[in-house]
Formats: sequence, C-alpha cells, structure tokens
Amino acid sequence: MSTTDYTLLNRQLEALLDTRDWLTNTAQTCAFLMHEIPDLNWAGFYLQRQPGTLILGPFQGLPACNPIPFDKGVCGAAATSRRTQRVADVHAFPGHIACDAASRSELVVPIECGAELWGVLDLDSPQPARFSDADQAGIERLVDVFVAASDLPIPGA
Ligand code: SME
Repeated sequence: MSTTDYTLLNRQLEALLDTRDWLTNTAQTCAFLMHEIPDLNWAGFYLQRQPGTLILGPFQGLPACNPIPFDKGVCGAAATSRRTQRVADVHAFPGHIACDAASRSELVVPIECGAELWGVLDLDSPQPARFSDADQAGIERLVDVFVAASDLPIPGA
C-alpha cells in the first residue's frame, strides 16, 4: 500500500512548472517524479514525433530503448489504446521491451493533445506490482498538472 501523498506532490509540481515550455516541463516532471516517488528505476517521456512512433524524450534512469513503434511494448499499448497501462509483472506482458533488466513493474500514462496522442509518461519499478490503484490515480493527476502547465506542440510539428 502506497503512502505517497499525491495531493502534496500535485501542489509541488504545480509550483515547479513555472514556464509554459513543454521541454523544460518534461525534464522537470520526470526528475521530480524520480526523486519523490519511492522505488522507481526509470521515469521519462516518449513523444510521438513521427506518426505511429514514440521517440525517447527527457528521462531519468539508464539509457533507454528508442524508437518504440505503437505496436510494440507497454508504451505502444498505452499509445494505441489511449489508456493507462499498469503492468504488475512486466515479464508476463507479451511484447514488453526490457530496457533496464531491473524493471519488474511498469505504469504508462498516455498524454493527448487535442485529438492526437502527444506522447506517454513511462514509470518503471524494480518492485513487482509497485503501482496500486491509488498510485495510478495520483500519477494520472500529476500528468494532468504537466499538461495544464505546458504548451504542447502538435505531434510531428
Ligand atoms: N518497457 C517499455 C519500454 C520503455 S522502458 O521501460 C524505459 C515498454 O515495454 O514499452
């Protein structure tokens, strides 16, 4: 059971994101999440910078896989379905892309810009089943803070 205070993290992230610049805000957001949410080994963004393809953006953690097509991995599943993917055991997820062998569970939140999929936020944990319902809801709200704070370019522009 998570004891992370997402209401507090929400207020802190709102205060941190004091520019409309999406690039600055992606960098700040993943650094903030990596330091404030316990038991993560990777936190970062993949952006739809080519149609149907996720391109690695700002992140914290080990160098990662790039690019990721929409039909591959947990990130691709989030991009295609436009729904958060919460994977308790990445080894049991067909097509999971192992960038860091330490990763055991994963949460990927899609980010939309108008009708388009702008990108995804990807969090990995070395702990199996790290992400609870409460973590998912809290992290989705943190993504909402990032979106509200940022001028997002149209994908591919
Ligand atoms: N595991 C992801 C790939 C990205 S890394 O975890 C950073 C996936 O299956 O899409």
